[in-house]
Amino acid sequence: MIIPVILSGGSGTRLWPLSRAMYPKQLLPLAGKGTMLQETVSRLAAMIDIGPVFCVCNEEHRFLVAEQLRQVTDSVGGIILEPVGRNTAPAVAVAAMQVRKQFPDAVMLVLPADHVIRDVDAFAAAVAVGTAAAEQGALVTFGVVPDAPETGYGYIRAADAGTGSNLPDGVMPVAEFVEKPDRETAEGYVASGNYFWNSGMFLFRADRYLEELEIHAPAIFEASGAALEQAATDLDFLRLERGSFEACPSDSIDYAVMERTSRAAVVPLDAGWNDVGAWSALWGVESRDDDGNVRKGDVLVQNVTGSYIHSTSRLVAAVGLDDCVVVETSDAVLVASKDRVQDVKAIVQELKERG
Ligand code: GDD
Ligand code: MG
Repeated sequence: MIIPVILSGGSGTRLWPLSRAMYPKQLLPLAGKGTMLQETVSRLAAMIDIGPVFCVCNEEHRFLVAEQLRQVTDSVGGIILEPVGRNTAPAVAVAAMQVRKQFPDAVMLVLPADHVIRDVDAFAAAVAVGTAAAEQGALVTFGVVPDAPETGYGYIRAADAGTGSNLPDGVMPVAEFVEKPDRETAEGYVASGNYFWNSGMFLFRADRYLEELEIHAPAIFEASGAALEQAATDLDFLRLERGSFEACPSDSIDYAVMERTSRAAVVPLDAGWNDVGAWSALWGVESRDDDGNVRKGDVLVQNVTGSYIHSTSRLVAAVGLDDCVVVETSDAVLVASKDRVQDVKAIVQELKERG
């Protein structure tokens, strides 16, 4: 059986001002009918042998997460609450420990709550291909053919065929996993044609992930275990113990485990995958008018091209703009050049410092 584990702890700062601390992007309907969390759960319907859904999120979002899950599935295995974010390695660890108790042989499908996948059948097929390898003990990643030297992604080089692995067809051993390389390195990787992007979704046995974590990041393994052992049940939630979890080192699964393990494998994924990290990415996945504009809400345009314009509470009118982003909310408006939207993060940081 495959147990889906959804990571919903990110803050989505680059999608400010829609994405806020109390209402991060994965809990918003940004691309699709439901919220990004709900779309993630709904995609599971295309897969076979799927068990109950587990979700790991910040305790502040517990009611929103519970309600959103309830609207799209009647099979929730558990909602694990983090008192503080410690990045993905501990989040996956507590989920694996909890899943292992109930489903000792389970394979976990780890899914970020904030991705867009256009071709759900192709995604389901890739998961089916990876499952046999995961059952055999591989840590399976899904590799996307890169189209730009993004520095915010992990890069995967598959080993040449015929390296003597006994992985099933369609699954390749990973020769090298490099998380977030610098620009120059990323350019070299993309030019070589030998690298995939890591999609950030993983498939592995719960016990195998924990074995690898204990070897490569023992402090995270210990602290996550302690936080779960002393966790409190609260309504339908499992609250991790604050002291131990706060003391846990903060690291991503990519740095803590995937870069170091020798058991990584990769399944190519061609499914219209997109990590909608910034407004420009959302512009890329939404339907556009003849001038290449995405218009959401009450928006009027005149001589505008290639832009993303989103109104939530007032009429927004734009004239003579090219490649811009305008996002209006009741208390803040963002106006940005589309090729600089990564810098929205800096604005959010400044706002935080302002208090
Ligand atoms: N529960 C929980 N707790 N979830 C978290 C936490 C946390 O502390 N931190 C992040 N997440 C969730 C985010 O909400 C997101 O859904 C997912 O985990 C991945 O975290 P990101 O912070 O978005 O990771 P990234 O985008 O920098 O990098 C990862 O994804 C890339 C593809 O989108 C890596 O796996 C890269 O290798 C990969 O290329
Ligand atoms: Mg991300």
